[in-house]
Amino acid sequence: MTAQNKSSAVREKADKYTEFVSSGFGKDLAKRLGLPQPAILRRYSPAAPLVDGPILVVGQGAGADAVARALLSWHQDVRRHATPKEKLGAVVAVLDELAHPEELSAPMLTVGAVLRDLHKNARVVSISRPATTADTPAVAAARNGVDGIVRSLAKELRAGATANGVLLANDIAADSPSAMASLRFFLSGRSAFVDGQFLTASTAGSTESVSTESVPTESVSAESVSAESGSAEAVDWEKPLAGNVAVVTGAARGIGAAIARTLSRDGATVIVVDVPAAGDHLAEVANDIAGTAMQLDITAENAGARILELAMERYGRLDVVVHNAGITRDKLLANMDAAKWNSVIAVNIASQLRMNEAFLANTDFATNGRIISVASTSGIAGNRGQTNYAASKAGVMGMVRATAPLLAVHGGTVNAVAPGFIETDMTAKIPFATREVARRLNSLQQGGKPSDVAEAIAFFAAPAAAGVTANVLRVCGQNLVGQ
Ligand code: NAI
Repeated sequence: MTAQNKSSAVREKADKYTEFVSSGFGKDLAKRLGLPQPAILRRYSPAAPLVDGPILVVGQGAGADAVARALLSWHQDVRRHATPKEKLGAVVAVLDELAHPEELSAPMLTVGAVLRDLHKNARVVSISRPATTADTPAVAAARNGVDGIVRSLAKELRAGATANGVLLANDIAADSPSAMASLRFFLSGRSAFVDGQFLTASTAGSTESVSTESVPTESVSAESVSAESGSAEAVDWEKPLAGNVAVVTGAARGIGAAIARTLSRDGATVIVVDVPAAGDHLAEVANDIAGTAMQLDITAENAGARILELAMERYGRLDVVVHNAGITRDKLLANMDAAKWNSVIAVNIASQLRMNEAFLANTDFATNGRIISVASTSGIAGNRGQTNYAASKAGVMGMVRATAPLLAVHGGTVNAVAPGFIETDMTAKIPFATREVARRLNSLQQGGKPSDVAEAIAFFAAPAAAGVTANVLRVCGQNLVGQ
């Protein structure tokens, strides 16, 4: 069965305005008044197809052929040339051989010619190489050009469609397992609220992740190729975390609870951590996912050691650590007091640094261990009243980049996810007008869901992302301002 004729993906309940403008009357009214027209986003469901329609692979080189073969091995309906008027679920532009900006013209005009034929919630994904100072100026210009294209195209696409890019660092192949895992994330409903962003694959990753062996080479150059010709993949994409033990801090509610549920859905056994005052909610989450509740203030000196102790005692292993717990104590710097400043730094960054020392010192964890921190777009763009919070979240990003080489020597990875406006109890308290503005000021014209942040974290935790480290991935619908 092809991706097209299977039933469509899950539509999660959107905010009231988005529901209204998705109805016949509301749609007409919004169009006439020139109001934002957010789409109901296609989010991940295990039963849903990867994309809603055929995937067009643009590019002439060996990399493009290899990516097409890998997509076939996932039983996708792949095209190497567009058929007039055929609706597409995704376009993948393989630009791994760019040597001069003039070479952007042919592939990008090909992409442009099919944009009117995209299904709702379609995906455009580039696969290219990051510009470095070792490149010639022309190569660097061409490679950096892709950055501008993806970020601009993300602002042009409508109806829930997104544009994102995979960057192949260190000369890895376009179809290397970590690049294909990143591509798969961007194609799927898991990345519904990720727009205008890049994931860098720095090493090829596990060779088990993508199996292309039995796909005949000639099939990829055909006008259209059968999805049935691919081989069965070696990776379990539905339960990628089966057998893994994960810990999630701040998991009693909000984004942390969503992360715990998503990791559990993906097969992990989850230890959920929160302060004793949140004990009841924490127990509920733990019961729902058959995990373990751990009442712990993460600012405790021995928090890392205690987490390790519990994981080892109960399960004999720890594979994934998600640093999600965080607080805000907003004040303009002119009105800031020491308690507000220090508590935010203590919870949001100092605790993570201390816990990571314990995790890295434990060879059982460090060997292939995964650390994922929740940052914030406030730490990237800044936010009025949040100098303390932005210091902590920008600090998280610095910590992640500097921790990556320390973990890489053992085979582990560390990444951060930076959410933008996410619909939680916290953001529900923002006054209506301010909330409406904050939620619409992104390319998808709506707030994200806790599950959107959780999906990005689950991607970084999965074995297929073994070569993806030191990334800061924004989950913000391409927010225009910090949050
Ligand atoms: P929340 O306030 O709903 O949940 C945070 C959880 O962390 C709570 O259950 C709290 O009890 C726990 N926690 C706080 N201090 C702790 C400590 N010392 N030890 C153990 N647990 C502790 O917050 P939300 O919205 O779910 O945010 C989760 C993360 O996402 C935070 O790091 C936040 O900064 C970040 N974030 C949230 C955004 C949003 O729009 N909601 C946007 C950007 C980032």
